Amino acid sequence: TTPLRLGIAGLGTVGTGVVKIVRQKAKLLAARTGRPIEISAVSARTRDKDRGVSVSGYDWEDDPVALATRDDVDVFVELMGGSDGPAKAATEAALDAGKDVVTANKAMLAMHGQALAEQAEAAGRVLRFEAAVAGGIPVIKALTEGLAGNEITRVMGVMNGTCNYILTRMQASGLPYDDVFEEANQLGYLEADPELDVGGIDAGHKLAILAAIAFGTQVDFNAVSLEGIQKITIEDIKQAADMGYRIKLLGVARMTGRGLEQRMSPCLVPKNSPLGQLEGGTNMVVLEGDAVEQIVLRGPGAGEGPTASAVMGDVMDIARGIRIPTFGLPAAQLSSPATACEAAP
Ligand code: NAP
Ligand code: HSE
Repeated sequence: TTPLRLGIAGLGTVGTGVVKIVRQKAKLLAARTGRPIEISAVSARTRDKDRGVSVSGYDWEDDPVALATRDDVDVFVELMGGSDGPAKAATEAALDAGKDVVTANKAMLAMHGQALAEQAEAAGRVLRFEAAVAGGIPVIKALTEGLAGNEITRVMGVMNGTCNYILTRMQASGLPYDDVFEEANQLGYLEADPELDVGGIDAGHKLAILAAIAFGTQVDFNAVSLEGIQKITIEDIKQAADMGYRIKLLGVARMTGRGLEQRMSPCLVPKNSPLGQLEGGTNMVVLEGDAVEQIVLRGPGAGEGPTASAVMGDVMDIARGIRIPTFGLPAAQLSSPATACEAAP
């Protein structure tokens, strides 16, 4: 049988997780998809680095674009990050060269998802990104496959584990925001630019992606009404607790008579509700549809294993020949969303 050959750009937390699964579970992956899954070549910034897994058996490319366009690569796996720069250049080059693409890059999808979806479709390729939203939770599959027969009425959830950690830790310890922020920093939870986490931007990227799929609209991050958690004080947390609530950075997307509403902001949720009890870096996504009513998905939103798990789900779909349009609909059918709330400042 013809193997499915991967080119992996980015060997950080997620990339090494993917390499480990491909190496350690080769038999299982082949049995489940009917095709061996192999790595042809890899790329990262630094060649000589201990990554906890050997990559010496694969060809090395310094340039991710060169990796993405190699003849022996069928699927380009983009795990570098960043909405623009090498991630976008290599993704575009891969699609141009007739490769399928799997990425975990929510920033790139939120900013350039429509153009990339159009490019993938014009090239007859698939662009998959399960890992981009809520890490290990298969929420994209839930929307595009399991719930495909529903009119989705609302998407809601906690989609940034770092903010959930900071808020739950403030609640449990009574420590002020600045102290807990520093703890999160020491633990390595924060993105290189922490504003992405605590400013609600990362969660807003994820919400914009989910909203596009749920409501058949072009992804529109600039229309997300955004408020982060930086202004939440320990007094806010205590007052909320006294009234029986917890504060969560909650995203909500729904179609209203005035258009698509996308909001990411700190909200009060009852402390005994599933959202109120969500602790640490865990994510929770609530999906509502006319037929299914409501489903709740809960799980790890980040980390090597959970995120690599989602990447591999996409890779294995491609190995099986499953080819779903990027946002669940042909790109030309995604409507331009009339916006129902103030855009982010
Ligand atoms: P990371 O640990 O910072 O790793 C990034 C990797 O990309 C590193 O191997 C780095 O090389 C490589 N890289 C960066 N710029 C490069 C360039 N110009 N050329 C070649 N390689 C380059 O990042 P990560 O946490 O694995 O995240 C990867 C992607 O997954 C991002 O889009 C992120 O948003 C997304 N994601 C991450 C998580 C998570 O839990 N970490 C969860 C969901 C989604 P060096 O190793 O040599 O520096
Ligand atoms: N910074 C993100 C979070 C990583 O805390 O949820 C996973 O997308």
